[in-house]
Formats: sequence, structure tokens, C-alpha cells
Amino acid sequence: MQSTSVSVLFVCLGNICRSPLAEGIFAALAGERGLGGQFHVDSAGTAAYHAGEPPDSRSTAVAAAHGIRLTGVARQVTPGDLERFDFVVAMDASNRRSLERLQRRVRSGHAEIVMMRDYESGAPDPDVPDPYYGGPDGFERVYRILERACNGLLDELSGSDRG
Ligand code: 4NP
Repeated sequence: MQSTSVSVLFVCLGNICRSPLAEGIFAALAGERGLGGQFHVDSAGTAAYHAGEPPDSRSTAVAAAHGIRLTGVARQVTPGDLERFDFVVAMDASNRRSLERLQRRVRSGHAEIVMMRDYESGAPDPDVPDPYYGGPDGFERVYRILERACNGLLDELSGSDRG
């Protein structure tokens, strides 16, 4: 991790559907803006059910349909993540509660825990819906939510919305 970069960890429950997609979309958008080198991005899950697995094939497919290749292997978020990362982005309120519990266990919980949809202007719901038990339509819907929210987060972190 470069000391000059801003580190961002995207977190959902399983780290196979929403957070790998958010990580891939954020990295692609940063690259399009010529800001790829300014960010270190990763993703993790609050649960370990899918640790070691690649992203869900439906997330990989929706990303590929938009020209994004998902990489990485699922892992569970650790207390150390709350010390190392600058921003930890929760997909829903349940993820945020889990992260806050974890943060209380570390000596210096440096990370700022934020909600993904706080960066989507006019979001009708605070949570990125969990698409795991639904069909492919749910993944396209999640993709669109994450694209808007990641653009908003990039605006915020790159200072382009601060005039
Ligand atoms: P994610 O989706 O949190 O977006 O990765 C889920 C993946 C797996 C499960 C639930 C949600 N699961 O219950 O196994």
C-alpha cells in the first residue's frame, strides 16, 4: 500500500456479491478519471461463509457486461482492517453494525466507517440490496446503484465536489 494513496475497503456480508463489485467499479471509475494511482482498494465480508471463494458468477457476469473484470478472493474483515484502511464502506446497516463492533475491539480504530449509498444522491433506501437470493435482474440493479454511489464517493475523495 502506497503511503500517499487513500485506502478504501468495501464491505458486505459474504464478500462475493456486492463488495467485490463495488471494488471493481470504484477501481474502474478511478482509472477512467486518471486517478487509479491515488487509491488502494480492497473488499471483505463480515462473515467467513465464503472465504477463499471467487466472486459470485452473477457479479462477475454483470461486471463483465460493463467491461469490468473482477479479481480477488473472498475474505473476512479483520480488526486490523479498521486500523489500516482510511475508509471502510459498508453496503448496508447490518454490515455497518458489525464493523462498529469490530472497531470497538481495536486500540486505534483509524478507519472512517461510511455507508455506500450515502454517496448516491437521492438514494431511496440507505442499503445496497443483497442480491444473493434473487435473479440476474437484482445484480444489474445493484450494479447501477454501485456505479452511482462509487462516482459520488470518488467525487468526495478526490475533492471534485468541493469547488
Ligand atoms: P454479499 O451477498 O454480502 O453481497 O456477498 C451474500 C453472499 C452470501 C450470502 C449472503 C449474502 N450467504 O448467505 O451465503
